[in-house]
Amino acid sequence: MSGPPEIAVLVSGSGSNLQAIIDASERGEIPCKVGLVLSNKTDAFGLERGRRHGIPIAVVDHKAFQTREEFDARLVDILTASGVRLVCLAGFMRVLTPVFIRAFPHRIMNIHPALLPAFPGTHGPRQALQYGARFAGCTVHFIDEGIDTGPVIAQAVVPVLDDDTEDTLAARILVEEHKIYPMAIRLFLEGRLSIEGRRVRVS
Ligand code: GRF
Repeated sequence: MSGPPEIAVLVSGSGSNLQAIIDASERGEIPCKVGLVLSNKTDAFGLERGRRHGIPIAVVDHKAFQTREEFDARLVDILTASGVRLVCLAGFMRVLTPVFIRAFPHRIMNIHPALLPAFPGTHGPRQALQYGARFAGCTVHFIDEGIDTGPVIAQAVVPVLDDDTEDTLAARILVEEHKIYPMAIRLFLEGRLSIEGRRVRVS
């Protein structure tokens, strides 16, 4: 195989993190190229972002499958055939089963808009506001079989301001997401991440 290693990015929506990853790759800041954009939604704007950069795209509609496992098996087939080295979830709004997770051990990352282990699940910024937290942020982590529970690779912190709404806080967090996700991918592809129990060591 020639050329830089390829990664897949899985999206369900806007794909601004996908864009940050594509841009970092095109600028040579991460040693890989995005070889596949995969979505469970035909109308995900992330697919359009992929098209604009000449990246192969694939759509697998989860509603066409009876079970989560069958859906996941289809994703595994596509990703395995594409030969990607790393799978990056970026606003991919499906809970993945062990069928998927065990196919790519320690090779699946996710970005979450909260400082895990606080506020897992959906609406991280909303949860931080409702709780009254003074700081919020985002987390890049490896995927394990729980919801947002895998080993943490990188986090970034932002303040929660008195007049914040869910949207203003989410936007402040997103700026940081776009920095730490490409950074985490770079560290992985440079072979600098090792997992020891729950801890990720960076060399
Ligand atoms: C981000 O907030 C990410 O943390 C969460 O979903 C959102 C995706 O945004 N997992 P985008 O599609 O990358 O713009």
